[in-house]
Amino acid sequence: MLLDNHGRKINYLRLAVTDRCNLRCFYCMPEEGLNWLSRTELMSYDEMLQICSLLVKMGIDKIRITGGEPFVRKDIMPFLTALSKLYGLNELTITTNGVLTAPYVKELKAIGVKSVNLSLDTLDANRFFAITSRDEFANVMATLDELLKYNIEVKINAVVMDGKNVQDIMPLVELTKNLPVSVRFIEEMPFNGDAHIYNGLKWDHVRILEEIKKHYPELKKLDDPLFSTSHNYQVAAYAGTVGIIAAYSRTFCGTCNRIRITPVGELKTCLYDGGILNIKDMIRRGDSVDMLTKTMMDAFGTRAKDGWEAEGLRPANNSVHESMATIGG
Ligand code: 5AD
Ligand code: SF4
Repeated sequence: MLLDNHGRKINYLRLAVTDRCNLRCFYCMPEEGLNWLSRTELMSYDEMLQICSLLVKMGIDKIRITGGEPFVRKDIMPFLTALSKLYGLNELTITTNGVLTAPYVKELKAIGVKSVNLSLDTLDANRFFAITSRDEFANVMATLDELLKYNIEVKINAVVMDGKNVQDIMPLVELTKNLPVSVRFIEEMPFNGDAHIYNGLKWDHVRILEEIKKHYPELKKLDDPLFSTSHNYQVAAYAGTVGIIAAYSRTFCGTCNRIRITPVGELKTCLYDGGILNIKDMIRRGDSVDMLTKTMMDAFGTRAKDGWEAEGLRPANNSVHESMATIGG
């Protein structure tokens, strides 16, 4: 079992396979997109498999594929299939915006993907366009239908943005009435690729919960799964559940079991750190497996205790501003 210097178990890797995306969620990236990485800067599928296979041997048993949008990377399915066969990997999950995903759902089910996180901040097609700058609402809903049809667990990620989608909180909660989905409201973080200046957090987890409770006074607290980043609730007799993720307030660091690898191969031991070391560069210069293992173990042994400490350790000229798409959402 992998333990960090604070006694926390590490068993969960979030791997970002691309920085590119076919939406422009305003809290994530500017309209003109990011300065996209070139193919040689990106990890190849082969390099990602090598890294995942080593990490699974070291104690990682859950991998989430993120981006950018994973399905805009060419030939993602054969990669996912290879990953799903890694011995010792218990859970392979995906975070997607759902634009291109529907046709792949059947295959995802076949390779054993049991849970998918779908980014969806509104149930209104016009507001979807206002938030993402793209007219893709229908495709995302088609993905939701398909996931439900194949009995894949669905978590809907909705970032709560002042002046943008607060009116969507109730409709999204209502979605859990008939659908067995978990709708998770996420605090907006400053990771927006400098699309706009971060104006401070207007809707923190406390305010989001108060808003929901105003309409659903009977909201019931559920037990949160171990290592859960969300505080979970349910409206009585509803099929699904509601979660709140204090992504900015960082209430969950004490049990953080996750590490991240960015599309360029940078290892992050906290969402808020500036990058600890580049594993792809090590592989490309021919470092041995022992060397890779030791270097990563050292990184796990010197982990910041929480997101505040990790952020504080960043150099002044590298404050939190990058897009989630370059970190792994
Ligand atoms: N704040 C909060 N969540 C964000 N995401 C992306 N950017 C931000 C941000 N600035 C989350 C979205 C999306 C996932 C990929 O990353 O919830 O679902
Ligand atoms: Fe794309 Fe996800 Fe960023 Fe939206 S949040 S622009 S879907 S990477």
